[in-house]
Amino acid sequence: MNRILITSALPYINGIKHLGNLAGSMLPADIIARFERLRANEVLYICATDEHGTPAELAAASAGQSVRAYCDEQFEVQRRACEGFDLSFDHFGRSSNAPNAQLTQHFADVLEDNGLIEERVSEQVYSLDDKRFLPDRYVEGTCPHCSYEKARGDQCDDCGRILDPVDLIEPYSTISGSKKLEVRETRHLFLRQSKMQTRVRTWVESATDWPPLARSIALKWLDEGLQDRAITRDLSWGIPVLRHGKPRPGFENKVFYVWFDAPIEYIGATQEHTEACGENWESWWRTDKGADDVTYVQFMGKDNVAFHTVSFPITLLGSGEPWKTVDKLKAFNWVTWYGGKFSTSQNRGIFMDQALELAPSDLWRWHLMANAPESADAAFTLEHFQSTVNKDLADVLGNFVNRITRFATSKMDGAVPGGGTPGALENELSAQLQTRLIALTGYYEAMEFRKAMAETRAIWAMGNEYLAEAAPWTTLKTDTDAAALSVRTGLNLVAIAAIIAQPVIPQAAAKILDALSVPEENRNWPEATDASLLSALPIGLKFTPPDVLFTKITDEDVTEWGEQFGAEC
Ligand code: 2FM
Ligand code: ZN
Repeated sequence: MNRILITSALPYINGIKHLGNLAGSMLPADIIARFERLRANEVLYICATDEHGTPAELAAASAGQSVRAYCDEQFEVQRRACEGFDLSFDHFGRSSNAPNAQLTQHFADVLEDNGLIEERVSEQVYSLDDKRFLPDRYVEGTCPHCSYEKARGDQCDDCGRILDPVDLIEPYSTISGSKKLEVRETRHLFLRQSKMQTRVRTWVESATDWPPLARSIALKWLDEGLQDRAITRDLSWGIPVLRHGKPRPGFENKVFYVWFDAPIEYIGATQEHTEACGENWESWWRTDKGADDVTYVQFMGKDNVAFHTVSFPITLLGSGEPWKTVDKLKAFNWVTWYGGKFSTSQNRGIFMDQALELAPSDLWRWHLMANAPESADAAFTLEHFQSTVNKDLADVLGNFVNRITRFATSKMDGAVPGGGTPGALENELSAQLQTRLIALTGYYEAMEFRKAMAETRAIWAMGNEYLAEAAPWTTLKTDTDAAALSVRTGLNLVAIAAIIAQPVIPQAAAKILDALSVPEENRNWPEATDASLLSALPIGLKFTPPDVLFTKITDEDVTEWGEQFGAEC
């Protein structure tokens, strides 16, 4: 049994996430968590809401709520949406909870003890009209790299560069819109990332298990040279800046920068979880306390890669303490809405809560992973969603399960029939199945989602192809043994089709396996070398065909949803 720690990038607390956010971190992480659990591995899948920083403050202000009340409410909204999508977190925490604050303050202390943090006077944008410093998203302007006109102070949404508000051209305050800004001096803590350049490069270069996208982004950052960066901000909402547990003079009105504390919440949320269930969080995170045998896998969108391959590792490695660092990092490109951006304010795109009102979660899960944005951005369109769902789920899997279970119910007394001996057709089917299962397992291990879904679909399609050739409805008239063999083989193939579907469409898979009365202990990931794969269901086992598994998406649905969610763009 392997121990696998999985984290998906923490969604910002402000606003429910859209389908693209889901596809680029939480959903693939959930699929791998489910896959590994089916292989009887010990999995810990951790996520949380990312609650600090200017995004939360700004959103709370525009909702007219205190930041705490806003976060409490939004946490519940996000938790419910994640539950609706069957995201099987072992724990969904909050970066504003106490363990994260303690850990963040601890890391800051040890990094400073190790000479990696120092106080510096820095220049920062000050708004004369708002009478305050404007950190990060409180200031917007033109990106100095790509000239995008609405670049935020912390990062440009267009070119993805991390920015400093003082770099923006023609900046303005997002609080008041005022352009009466000036650059003033203020004190902040700086993480001396430049001192860690060689150490981080050696670490990245030794990480041979990272898929190419993450690796290339990390190396690009290192090639450009690591810059020291401020890890405190002039804000009130966040983790207080202490020094060895005591207030730090001059930092009373400052907090740690959200990107300093957010990844630490992966550890904080593990603590929250294990405290609740009496387990030991250190065995997941400290290599001196048992985490040396843990494989740590992270999932995120491409804009998060730098923070996870450079900044967070600097926190962990720079501490000089034996923290577990990531082993495999899977990054994704964007899912776009008809080639453009999802936008709540412009009513473009479908968000997680809305999606669940339109169709069951399995349908979205399947489509998003069958078309995962792995090698490039992937455009979501309702027409494409309709065709993937109708073809793959309804016509291929649904039709196969329906055909054979209904036929067996009406002609074989609703039980797995005995009789007949496997022949050339079944032997060929078995060989083909073994080859495909090996490929599918390999794709999951490599976290290649599009290929894993294509292979899953191919195994489902084998069912329809086998039935078409074996044609039990014809042989039944002349050779009942041959018909019984085909039906038995077909039913076993239904069980396998459902077992391998569990990571991606857990609800439909459970419905099929329940209908076939497959006990929990026989739902594990199949071993391709198991010769009895096609005869696992006991002869005589009674079953009832599952209800309709997938309702097709109609042209009317597409038109109606398109009008509702701005598909004409
Ligand atoms: O980009 C984002 O949505 C961030 N909230 C991700 C944080 S991931 C982690 F470091 F916490
Ligand atoms: Zn830019």
